[in-house]
Amino acid sequence: MYVNTTSPLKVQNLTKRIKNATLVDHLSFELDPGKIYGFLGPNGAGKTTTIRMITGLISITEGEVFINGYDIKKSPQKALSHLGVIVENPSAYGYLSGYENLQQSARLSLKSISSTRMKEIIKLVDLEHAIHNKVKTYSLGMRQRLGIAQALLHEPSILILDEPTNGLDPAGIRQLRDNLKQVARDENTTILVSSHLLQEIEMICEEAIVLDKGKLVDVIKIKDDSTEPSKMVSLLIEVSNVGKALDVLSSFQVVQSTENAIELLVEQEQVPNVVYKLAENRVDMYEMKRKAVSLEDHFLTLTAKGSN
Ligand SMILES: Nc1ncnc2c1ncn2[C@@H]1O[C@H](COP(=O)(O)OP(=O)(O)O)[C@@H](O)[C@H]1O
Ligand SMILES: [Mg+2]
Repeated sequence: MYVNTTSPLKVQNLTKRIKNATLVDHLSFELDPGKIYGFLGPNGAGKTTTIRMITGLISITEGEVFINGYDIKKSPQKALSHLGVIVENPSAYGYLSGYENLQQSARLSLKSISSTRMKEIIKLVDLEHAIHNKVKTYSLGMRQRLGIAQALLHEPSILILDEPTNGLDPAGIRQLRDNLKQVARDENTTILVSSHLLQEIEMICEEAIVLDKGKLVDVIKIKDDSTEPSKMVSLLIEVSNVGKALDVLSSFQVVQSTENAIELLVEQEQVPNVVYKLAENRVDMYEMKRKAVSLEDHFLTLTAKGSN
């Protein structure tokens, strides 16, 4: 079955129930070509379950998935020929070179893959220098780029990555972002990146589909970060006098406070201001730590939507 659409991925009332539990609940969204989307939600929100249904790895209880117009249930081969996916950690044969792994993927592809395509894709993911080395010598970031190359060989319209930033350091995340941007631009591939971290999605995506308890919460637009917009950071500050600190910092968003510490959510540029205010008002500070802003902690506060 085929529906006429320009959307590389259209999900309609997608639902997954296992026994009495509803893991994904009538989820609907539609993606535009060539854009990078976040799939954002706290752990347990149902992201992986949704991705597994989209990719045909598990059955769909209710609803439809169309990849480039093809129904994953009724025309799985056609649908999958337009999809590239990396679930969990990228898996490659460590004792083979990156190139040999790519050849292996090319052999498994329904479409014949030219050596020109192989070259093109290796260049796209910046693996030219290491492609003939054994994969067991690769860093996590390199393995991931190899995984992206494998998923892109057959020129899918949509690439889905499930929590690709897990385990990457900030430099690795930045490189992943640059690679994905290039893929979206050069290949006009739509990309869906799942994560439970708002900050990481903000770095990589233009728009985000937000999921909580299996339901669509919101679709949010994210500022173009080419000019590095203000990032929110969470600060954990240990002080001598919490009451006074709260007074002094009343213009900032306080997430929580304990007997000897407060947690603030502030724009990156405001961090020096926080330090200054505490010092100016002689509130002794013993420690200040930055935490990654996680959805669980802060998304609902940020959007002021409440948890309904
Ligand atoms: N096979 C399963 N049987 C029952 N519950 C499951 C199964 N797989 C996942 N779950 C539950 O479904 C919910 C959604 O899980 P998941 O899709 O992995 O979330 P996410 O990827 O957003 O962290 C979680 O509460 C999880 O415990
Ligand atoms: Mg998951």
